[in-house]
Amino acid sequence: MRRTHRCGDLRATHVGQRALLQGWVHRQRDHGGLIFIDLRDREGIVQVVFNPTIAPEAHATASDARAEYVLEIEGTVAPRPAGTENPELPTGAVEVVADRAQVLNPSLPLPFTVAEEGPVDEAVRLTYRYLDLRRPRMARNLVLRHRVVKFIRDFFDELGFLEVETPILAKSTPEGARDYLVPSRVRPGEFYALPQAPQQFKQLLMVGGVDRYFQIARCFRDEDLRADRQPEFTQLDLEMSFVEQDDVLGLAEDLFTRMSRALTTKNVPTPFPRLTYDEAMTLYGSDKPDLRYGMASVELSDLFGETEFEVFRGVLGSGGVIRGIRVPGGARYSRREIDELTETGKTEGARGLAWAAIEPGELRSSFARFLSEGEQRAMIERLEGREGDLLLLVAAPGWVPSKALGAIRIEVARREGLADPDTLAYARITEFPLLEWDEEGRRWDAVHHPFTSPMDEDFSLLESDPGRVRAQAYDLVCNGWELGGGSIRIHRRELQERMFGLLGFTPERAEAQFGHMLRAFQYGTPPHGGMAVGIDRVVAIFAGESSIREVMAFPKNQSAADLLMNAPSQVDERQLRDLHIGLELD
Ligand code: AMO
Repeated sequence: MRRTHRCGDLRATHVGQRALLQGWVHRQRDHGGLIFIDLRDREGIVQVVFNPTIAPEAHATASDARAEYVLEIEGTVAPRPAGTENPELPTGAVEVVADRAQVLNPSLPLPFTVAEEGPVDEAVRLTYRYLDLRRPRMARNLVLRHRVVKFIRDFFDELGFLEVETPILAKSTPEGARDYLVPSRVRPGEFYALPQAPQQFKQLLMVGGVDRYFQIARCFRDEDLRADRQPEFTQLDLEMSFVEQDDVLGLAEDLFTRMSRALTTKNVPTPFPRLTYDEAMTLYGSDKPDLRYGMASVELSDLFGETEFEVFRGVLGSGGVIRGIRVPGGARYSRREIDELTETGKTEGARGLAWAAIEPGELRSSFARFLSEGEQRAMIERLEGREGDLLLLVAAPGWVPSKALGAIRIEVARREGLADPDTLAYARITEFPLLEWDEEGRRWDAVHHPFTSPMDEDFSLLESDPGRVRAQAYDLVCNGWELGGGSIRIHRRELQERMFGLLGFTPERAEAQFGHMLRAFQYGTPPHGGMAVGIDRVVAIFAGESSIREVMAFPKNQSAADLLMNAPSQVDERQLRDLHIGLELD
């Protein structure tokens, strides 16, 4: 290596040493006589001084250098003159006095400044991602991502897990999102599918006796994109034989507690709270509640059994429920602010929002005048209302009150800054429903996937009341994000066939799509279960980023395009002919 040091590594201890550095011009300042260049490499920045009387040639080179030129410089490490040290910079006690400089490669004027962190249009950042990656934020995020993956590999290696690679050219199966398809050249009219997850392969590895598997696995799903979704993303995928739900969740809790503490400075409350799906939905209206703050909703229906208030009477009479939350300090909200919360509630189906502000000596309220004094008192007591608080109630059928108040809860937390950015509030959510009714397709769909085992207690309901069957499925959530999910699997052919039957598969179609699984289950398949965690989401949460695009080196944009390479793109007629594909474009 020609380099003797890295720019960011130089310290007072290096004073007097000769240094040969290679890096980018972060900033260039020409002071008339002296020229200062902040030279940058991955480790950081160091100040290089060019003195026209000591080294006129190097000074001339430095004078022509512009932002992001690649330079090689040689010089001596010196203490900075007293009073010019920069305590903000790790290298701020020293500078390199250059006696030689060479431009290894110049740079065109930049589409945005690398040296400043200011906001830049995302399309421009993605088009010039290689420049964006030089900026400190992305550089930091890539390092963090590397550390997360390394931590995971070491953790599982120590526990005797094997990392096994599974195919990227796989088979299309009708579950979950849309597949990305790859046409076969040698078998005209046939297609591979890119895996949405290694689900079937990892189960087949359990049949193969691998016992404990993990993989940092690339997955592909053609679905609508959001801040936490990309068409291609990375999972920590794992599967274990001879385990029960608590073994998998215990392992995940151990991994995330240790990894969060090793790689972040955030608070990690342990043990992780455990909520059933039903509890999470009822209390927070969400199966991925942000538990960094409270404001769970509370059942109030029983307080209004005899009420004269028409709206509540009507809802209760038709089997609905009344729930409420307390917004601490919310009594100061203006009518407009309360109206905005009402609108938030409407997005989840609430027809309206009943509110009551507890002010000194009175209840300022949209509906309290319709309540008896006893009802008012009972409501305040149940919600633990105190002076200065705002009570919000929703009366509606089914999950609507929980969901509407859950959405309002998130909005209030945003307004009041209740979510501590320095806390990672993990939780385990269990007992998800096995099936959900698809109104359009008029059939049952698997909530998790068709290989998930029902809970033993609910077996008898499988055919009689499928909607009430709970699954041995679970999620790991953190700060309102779903980080991962998994299940104990079906491992017997009969039950898997019954499941396919419930999902509306004829035996022939089950055989065509999943015959390999059904067959494998006849050859001594061990009981097994596992989960998968979205690595992109983990790194984003650790980094405090709100989009996973910020922690991927080369993400796609919101319309699934790679702006850097310009993909997807048209291909040659010949390539299409080889693949037996004709295009029919509107
Ligand atoms: P699931 O579909 O819940 O389960 O996915 C597991 C985790 O993967 C992440 N994830 C995504 N991340 C970014 N972009 C996406 N488009 C995307 N889709 C999913 C999420 C999610 O929690 N095979 C099962 C797991 C199992 O049963 O073991 C599976 O893939 O963080």
